Amino acid sequence: MRALTSKQFDASQLQGRSFLACKDFTPAEINYLVDFSLHLKQMKQRGLPHHYLEGKNIALLFAKTSTRTRAAFTVAAVDLGAQPEFMGANDLQLGNKESIADTAKVLGRMFDGIEYRGFAHADVTALAKYAGVPVWNGLTDQWHPTQMIADFMTIKENFGHLQGINLTFVGDGRNNVANDLLVTGTMLGVNVRILAPQALQPVPEVVALTKKFAAQTGAKFLITDDLKQGVAGTNVIYTDVWVSMGEDNWEERVKALKPYQVNQAMLAATGTPDDQLIFMHCLPAFHDTQTTYGQEIARKYGITEMEVTDEVFKSPLARQFEEAENRMHAIKAIMAATLGDLFIPKI
Ligand code: CP
Ligand code: NVA
Repeated sequence: MRALTSKQFDASQLQGRSFLACKDFTPAEINYLVDFSLHLKQMKQRGLPHHYLEGKNIALLFAKTSTRTRAAFTVAAVDLGAQPEFMGANDLQLGNKESIADTAKVLGRMFDGIEYRGFAHADVTALAKYAGVPVWNGLTDQWHPTQMIADFMTIKENFGHLQGINLTFVGDGRNNVANDLLVTGTMLGVNVRILAPQALQPVPEVVALTKKFAAQTGAKFLITDDLKQGVAGTNVIYTDVWVSMGEDNWEERVKALKPYQVNQAMLAATGTPDDQLIFMHCLPAFHDTQTTYGQEIARKYGITEMEVTDEVFKSPLARQFEEAENRMHAIKAIMAATLGDLFIPKI
């Protein structure tokens, strides 16, 4: 069976549901969210109002720091006519003085929808279980689903389609973004490769999910530590930080991932013509020494660029800032589709 298009399903089936991981949805539902995001981007660009969440209140809970996800949820909520309220790690009792279940029951009585960024995926699942309102995962250690809708939207914008596109994720192949690109890409008919040293390749549970979706959509996937095999003929080179939030193993990661840095030589090794190749990064990125982390790594390990060189980051193939903007359109689509009850657009 090939990936389904959004035309083959009824959008109302998303209403009232939490969005915790793409794997919990069907390929048709994920395709719909990508297309709805593109539709909402056009509406915003044309100045057309889209107040699908008029009068709703949205809680934004962040146990980890964020620039894009927080900004995207805030602007998306306001554009949809809703009122966002931010609560950071230092504002909440969550998990320290009050259980997740109790917090969920309280917030669910006041808010119509809740975004949560945290550590264990079980925490956001518990929040959704007890809140009684839709909960949206703003990143956990395992998955980053709102990033996925924006990423595949960005790829569709660039190439006009998803089916048959080759995407290579290079770097820490068992982090949240790598897991989700592998599983969600496969759901959408994208051929995903994870290029990473063996110790940082996806865990069996993620590989099993990928196999399941590959059988449904016909997508091919590959997990390899061989650079040539990983990048040959690819259309998208995607990377992420070598050390994710909640980790602190810089020395080990710099050593393991230095050979996997995205640089001009890696782009050339794809053999893909420039008009069929893009670079993506979920951000934030370490591509120079303009950050305190960047300076510390340069001092300790003698490298001034990490997962991507400044040259690639600033090259005409780079799409990371379009991708960052698309977070807002994608999050808007996710909130409107799961919480909106006034109008479900047929797109
Ligand atoms: N890509 C992403 O999630 O960015 P933030 O951590 O800034 O939200
Ligand atoms: N893997 C990164 C993604 C940041 C958006 C992290 O979890 O820190």
